[in-house]
Amino acid sequence: MNLSTNRLTIQPATIDDAEFVLRLMNSEGWLKYIGDKNVHTIEEARDYLIVRLVSYNHPHCGMYVIRLKDGTPIGTNSLLKRDFLDTVDIGYALLTEREGKGYATEATTEFLRYVMEDLGYQRVLACAKKENHASFRILQKLGFAIKETFINNGEECVLMETL
Ligand SMILES: CC(C)(COP(=O)(O)OP(=O)(O)OC[C@H]1O[C@@H](n2cnc3c(N)ncnc32)[C@H](O)[C@@H]1OP(=O)(O)O)[C@@H](O)C(=O)NCCC(=O)NCCS
Repeated sequence: MNLSTNRLTIQPATIDDAEFVLRLMNSEGWLKYIGDKNVHTIEEARDYLIVRLVSYNHPHCGMYVIRLKDGTPIGTNSLLKRDFLDTVDIGYALLTEREGKGYATEATTEFLRYVMEDLGYQRVLACAKKENHASFRILQKLGFAIKETFINNGEECVLMETL
């Protein structure tokens, strides 16, 4: 599976992406808006990817790497099926220095199309901290609407769903 847009490709992450994932998961934006997942060494990044790859018994769920057309990794999309939610949710993150160029919107538009059209999910969720304005803007552009708000670890979060 290899998704493609004007400027980007999106492919499932492999163990070879550990170095990039380590950098991304310790970037400013990830730590602020997604949180510290205790992945601080290359070994922990490999373990994280292995757990992610083998623990999702839902087909196609896991982490996907967003790359420029020259192969440079710049971010991730994710597709998860959490026990407490009734359908899948998607996520996105970019290296801090790659923000502000529309890459997240471009990749996630194609990723959402893949999840809905190719995988056949009729409803898709996404979750963001209330203060994450860039994330809300992306979800708004992709046609998501607010489903409910909730408190997670003392922070206000919003669950959004496709209309
Ligand atoms: C969220 C994230 C992917 C956005 O990346 P990005 O490069 O800014 O995304 P895009 O350029 O595609 O789109 C962002 C949109 O939000 C807008 N935006 C950015 N910062 C904003 C802010 N502080 N307030 C309001 N809107 C904002 C942009 O103008 C753009 O909208 P536009 O196309 O209408 O101009 C990036 O900041 C990131 O990786 N953050 C850390 C991880 C994260 O938060 N993931 C989401 C968890 S829910």
